[in-house]
Formats: sequence, structure tokens, C-alpha cells
Amino acid sequence: MKDLAPLIKAAWKARDNAYCPYSGFKVGAAMRSKATGKIYYGCNVENAAFPSGICAERGAVCNALATEGPGIEFDEIVVVTTADEPSAPCGSCRQMMVEFGTDAIVNSINAKGDKTRMTMDELLPNSFGPKSFKIKPSSKK
Ligand code: THU
Repeated sequence: MKDLAPLIKAAWKARDNAYCPYSGFKVGAAMRSKATGKIYYGCNVENAAFPSGICAERGAVCNALATEGPGIEFDEIVVVTTADEPSAPCGSCRQMMVEFGTDAIVNSINAKGDKTRMTMDELLPNSFGPKSFKIKPSSKK
């Protein structure tokens, strides 16, 4: 495992910018590009029309692709909240992340420092993804 400290720092910083007046539940996410080592991050952004909001993890994925392009693969992902237990990504975020990180590891961390560390395959077993279409990462253009 490469050093997670910069990812954790980026996730907490992003969390500070969360817009969540409806739930009051701030989430920060950061993910690292396998190829470049660059870190991309996001926070949850809610909306008065509730379903129009977006989770921190999916925001970070969009941020990463906008910068690095569709061939990106993640190796490590960090999700931070101040919940009592480390907060696992929701189902939509798992589906979004597995597209770009079939072997990524997801680290959920809370303010007390409790941690879970799980592979994408543990979080979303037998997933429907690029492999279902026989698409290789290098052909994601
Ligand atoms: N949320 C995330 O940002 N990520 C998740 O994986 C789960 C939930 C956000 C969405 C909403 O703004 C708030 O947490 C409460 O559900």
C-alpha cells in the first residue's frame, strides 16, 4: 500500500466544502490515479430537488475524468465522514467507481480514525462493468 496520507488530507479538505443543508451529512472523497499518482477529490453537493444532488465519490470521479480523461484507473480511494462508524459508499457510487477501478481499494475513515479497507470487489461483488462489454481500460476513449 502506497502512502494514504495525502489522499486522507485531500478527502478531509474536500469535505469542508460539502454542500449539504438538507442532510447535514458532510462527505469527502479522494482517489488516486494508478498511472500518474495524481489525487482527485470531491464533496457531496445536495440540491433542493433532492435526487439532483451528487455524492462526494461520484463528484471526485467526474473531476478525475475531466482532468485525466476516460482511460483513468484508480488504485486507492478514501471516503471520510464524522459518522460513528466509517461510512461505506452508497450503491450508486460503488457502481460508478468500479467502472474505473475494478481492483481499487476503498478506505472509509471517520474522525475518530476508525477505518475499513475493502476491495471494490468486496464492496460490489460480481459487478456489471466494462468487463461485461469486454472493454479494456486502454480502449475507454
Ligand atoms: N453521500 C455521499 O456523499 N456518499 C455516499 O457514498 C453516501 C451518501 C451523501 C449524499 C447526501 O448528500 C448525504 O451523504 C446523505 O445521504
